[in-house]
Amino acid sequence: MKFKIIWCLVSIFLIVLLYLGISGRQVDVNTDMVVDGLDNETAQIMYYAGLAPSSHNAQMWRAKIYPAEGKLVISVDETRTLPAVDPEKREMYISMGAYARSCILALEAYGYNTSHHISDNGTTVTINYKKNGMATDDGLITLMKRRHSDKREYMSTPLPELFQEGLNGIHGTVYFAQSSDGYEFIKKETLAAAAEQQNDQSVRNELAEWLRFSNSEVTRKKDGISAEQMNITGIKKSLYYLFMSRESAKGDAFARKGYDMAVEQTDGCAGFIVISDNDTPRDYVNAGMHLMEVWLYAVRNNIEVHPMSYAVENPSRRIELQRSLKLLNPPQMILRVGMIDGVYGENAQVRRDLKDYITVEK
Ligand SMILES: Cc1cc2nc3c(=O)[nH]c(=O)nc-3n(C[C@H](O)[C@H](O)[C@H](O)COP(=O)(O)O)c2cc1C
Repeated sequence: MKFKIIWCLVSIFLIVLLYLGISGRQVDVNTDMVVDGLDNETAQIMYYAGLAPSSHNAQMWRAKIYPAEGKLVISVDETRTLPAVDPEKREMYISMGAYARSCILALEAYGYNTSHHISDNGTTVTINYKKNGMATDDGLITLMKRRHSDKREYMSTPLPELFQEGLNGIHGTVYFAQSSDGYEFIKKETLAAAAEQQNDQSVRNELAEWLRFSNSEVTRKKDGISAEQMNITGIKKSLYYLFMSRESAKGDAFARKGYDMAVEQTDGCAGFIVISDNDTPRDYVNAGMHLMEVWLYAVRNNIEVHPMSYAVENPSRRIELQRSLKLLNPPQMILRVGMIDGVYGENAQVRRDLKDYITVEK
């Protein structure tokens, strides 16, 4: 009898969670790949390209395709910027660069030769593509699908020597292992900047707008940060969606929790990879391209990646980091890296419908 009552209560609880769209099940946003005038293969390529990273998953890019010319023009979408955390629009350009590199890689994986040009002011990347008859590179597509940000704790085991050597081939990239002074300095700056942001109400409000609070909000908006993207799954996810709201995410307790998590994350890793480049929009785009290369290289080696941008979101901290870490250029991305003691994570694939940002020119 007692068992029946408990079973009934659990069932009612689960039905309520489902009804509210806050069940712990993995959500599939079912990105619509139909775009007027776009063939199936190019749509598939553009879908994989769209799995590129962007700050707050704001996906601040547009694409115009000229199929007859074999041309793709990518531009920034200034309506999707993050004025509080990214007033310089630096991360907008980096995100667009990562997307552009992702387009190039997806085209190449489908057997196209490509060449590209970044405009002087950094606002567009033009890619020319031509079929080369090579078979589809499924391995590269798999890497692009596996790439994700992982906020869990990593092992402190240093990254393999061979992996570190390979990083030298990617422009402006340096690894600071947990045991190094550089790591300690990055950690100190990261936590100081995190503390500043924790107390900045405009940053909190902006983040809250991009956080998602139910499965239905995730499937409706197809952008922003879902529970899965914060590695909150199963029953914890249901409880997070049940008890958290946009209002509570703007409050002190949530901000404190964010800071505490940053402390744990900076401790729980093998170190930081820093990607540096000059402070111009064009160079930010380049940094985004290098970000994509580093990230896929890490995925290929089963190394988890988590950008921690607090410190580089502040121009004077960028200068200070460049000086202390003896970098040639200011740091543009700080990536927490390491191997996971468990199963490698996966991409939640929360991405907008292609027609929302892609147009085809006849
Ligand atoms: C320029 C840039 C800055 C980012 N900064 C952070 C950050 O400070 N903290 C964080 O958790 N994720 C950061 N990210 C990761 C994004 O939140 C993530 O790419 C986005 O939510 C999509 O998720 P995915 O990478 O798993 O596909 C950043 C990504 C980019 C491109």
